[in-house]
Amino acid sequence: MKVAVVGATGMVGQVMLKVLAERNFEITELSPVASERSVGNKINFKDKEYEIIGLEEAVAQKPDIALFSAGGETSLEWAPKFAEAGTTVIDNSSAWRMHPDKKLVVPEINASELTKEDKIIANPNCSTIQMVMALAPLHEKYGITRVVVSTYQSITGTGVKAVQQLENEYKGEQGEMAYPYPIHRNAIPQCDVFEENGYTKEEMKLTNETKKILKDDTVEVTATAIRIPVVGGHSESVNVTFKNDFDINEVRKLLKEFPGVTVQDNTDVNTYPMPIYAEGKDDVFVGRLRRDLSQPNSLNMWIVADNLRKGAATNAVQIAEYLVENDLV
Ligand SMILES: NC(=O)c1ccc[n+]([C@@H]2O[C@H](COP(=O)([O-])OP(=O)(O)OC[C@H]3O[C@@H](n4cnc5c(N)ncnc54)[C@H](OP(=O)(O)O)[C@@H]3O)[C@@H](O)[C@H]2O)c1
Repeated sequence: MKVAVVGATGMVGQVMLKVLAERNFEITELSPVASERSVGNKINFKDKEYEIIGLEEAVAQKPDIALFSAGGETSLEWAPKFAEAGTTVIDNSSAWRMHPDKKLVVPEINASELTKEDKIIANPNCSTIQMVMALAPLHEKYGITRVVVSTYQSITGTGVKAVQQLENEYKGEQGEMAYPYPIHRNAIPQCDVFEENGYTKEEMKLTNETKKILKDDTVEVTATAIRIPVVGGHSESVNVTFKNDFDINEVRKLLKEFPGVTVQDNTDVNTYPMPIYAEGKDDVFVGRLRRDLSQPNSLNMWIVADNLRKGAATNAVQIAEYLVENDLV
């Protein structure tokens, strides 16, 4: 495969390269792509040095697959140009996720929807991916009617600028701000910008993308997304109401059996998911499983995953692997 990584110098792009190397994705030619600012700079991949190129040059190379993580505007403008050149684009931005003709894919849930005709494939939002990984097996068994989710999101979800902001604040130095407020020793109840309905874009992504991935518009999702000064991954407190009642041991079993989910749930020895353990791992970790005592057919759980891996890079590489394995590219 000739592979382009668009946004190769960014937070997600760097993990993308790492995941491609770790999983030994077969690459005959690699094109690391970034903005004009970075063109000519060097990066390392599998002990070899590569020069960063620009988008124009990358399209001309007609890669088989382009993994995009360079922001929505770049995707909107450039993904169609790559697609026209015959490249299959797997896009990490929000640009194409809710487009009615584009697939929104979490491989463990809906990769089977993919066909050779899909030239722009959307990778869901990081906080949505980890939530639907735990919801999907439970929805199939009990039928979800409503989800109430509060997120505690890592600053790595905002990109390199945010990590720099926290480091500056930690050292007491002035610098560029990725957030409207200090993030060190703070919790900011705003991830992304506000929409007219009072929710942030991130919160509406959790609502809309969940319905699309589960292929069920009747699943109601209400979300509050919070940024906290953590780096290892996003955490989510999730309250789910089902049509049918459940057995908590069966819930645990369904989650354990679902590929890509690890249950960490033993309160006797204080075992539960945390970002410090999820960091650098590909799985989605679920724990604090307990019946909601305040209303029928309802479950509480705590979900943690590394947003840069399963929430972005790993999910995208898994899509690429599926395309190759099934001769769709
Ligand atoms: N961070 C996450 O957890 C996460 C999860 C899922 C999806 N995403 C999405 O992934 C994308 C990147 O996020 P990130 O956190 O990696 O951001 P980031 O650290 O700020 O990196 C942005 C990358 O895009 C490149 N870029 C920016 N403008 C460009 C342009 N006009 N042409 C070509 N390349 C350009 C940058 O290149 P330079 O270095 O040259 O500026 C850099 O490589 C965003 O769309 C984000 O929403 C992020």
